[in-house]
Amino acid sequence: MRGVIALTGATGFIGSALAQRLTKEGWRVRALLRSSTPPVHLTGTSLEWVRGTLDDCDSLECLVGDADVVIHCAGVLRGITEADFYPTNVEAVSRLASIAASRSPVPRFLLISSLAAREPELSPYAASKRMGEIALSKAADRLSWTALRPPAVYGPGDRALLPLLRLMWHGIAPIPGRQDARFSLLYVEDLAEAVVGWLARDVPERYAFELDDGHPQGYTWREVVETFERLRGRGVVRLQIPELILNLTARLNKMAASVIGYPPMFTPGKVRELRHPNWVCDNAPFRRIVDWTPAIRLEEGLRLALGLQASPARSARTQDGHDEL
Ligand SMILES: NC(=O)c1ccc[n+]([C@@H]2O[C@H](COP(=O)([O-])OP(=O)(O)OC[C@H]3O[C@@H](n4cnc5c(N)ncnc54)[C@H](OP(=O)(O)O)[C@@H]3O)[C@@H](O)[C@H]2O)c1
Repeated sequence: MRGVIALTGATGFIGSALAQRLTKEGWRVRALLRSSTPPVHLTGTSLEWVRGTLDDCDSLECLVGDADVVIHCAGVLRGITEADFYPTNVEAVSRLASIAASRSPVPRFLLISSLAAREPELSPYAASKRMGEIALSKAADRLSWTALRPPAVYGPGDRALLPLLRLMWHGIAPIPGRQDARFSLLYVEDLAEAVVGWLARDVPERYAFELDDGHPQGYTWREVVETFERLRGRGVVRLQIPELILNLTARLNKMAASVIGYPPMFTPGKVRELRHPNWVCDNAPFRRIVDWTPAIRLEEGLRLALGLQASPARSARTQDGHDEL
């Protein structure tokens, strides 16, 4: 056993990939669980569950316990106003970091932030991710911390991007961003691998690192659609969605969410994020310090995310004992 990791967000898309990768690496993972039962795909794993929420200090005390490392991956991605995001993405960071800082020895602290934190003016979500990093930096002098800023992360189990990717696989590509927009992407297992790399190295602490799959200058929507055309072996119908329609739909969704009471993903703030021209990451500072090379580029990542047949290259690698499809 390598040691104990206290993990939040293990029931979510990224957190469950982290939990599975870290247990496979030999870490003992203690994970926060706010529902009554763990998700089916995590039952029967060696995860140790601590019942509670991020609002509850007692649960967080239990979660942190004697952990060597705290990884805070829980976050709120859906909502309308600052009040929807702030309690989890900011206040809970302070709470958890203060508890970690009060321990002796003090555990290392990793925050899964977001590239959105680079442009906090765009949306309440982006602002909350930046504020979360600031809250962490102010939490305590004794705490050494790292924040990772992934761009859009995709993979099996993702609920945000996967519906759009499925539509593209079926031959229809609604394009919400500008034609000249460039954006980075990251396959979820490469993010988990980056965390494994971070754990293995003493990173100069108190720093936020961007991470991506290493595709130079990110992708354009055109490149994404062309990748689908290669995967399908036939064309994809492109539907460039005008900004006016995006804004109108987002406003209607926001109104419906307020009336019916669900947390919306597609809001005016999300439109501003989607229309931003530059979401390209620079992972060089992280790679200078951590021994990590992203392995999965878009075409392969889409195959894995959509559960398609492996490419010949990938099949050869699986015979060498790497991930199975
Ligand atoms: N997905 C992306 O493309 C992406 C990109 C960049 C950064 N990120 C960041 O990565 C992190 C994880 O994102 P994700 O896509 O995995 O989101 P997700 O699937 O929605 O998972 C969110 C996780 O946070 C937990 N959580 C939220 N509020 C909580 C609370 N009050 N108490 C306890 N647990 C709480 C959820 O628990 P329940 O299961 O109980 O709801 C779930 O485990 C977030 O911080 C997000 O900002 C995501």
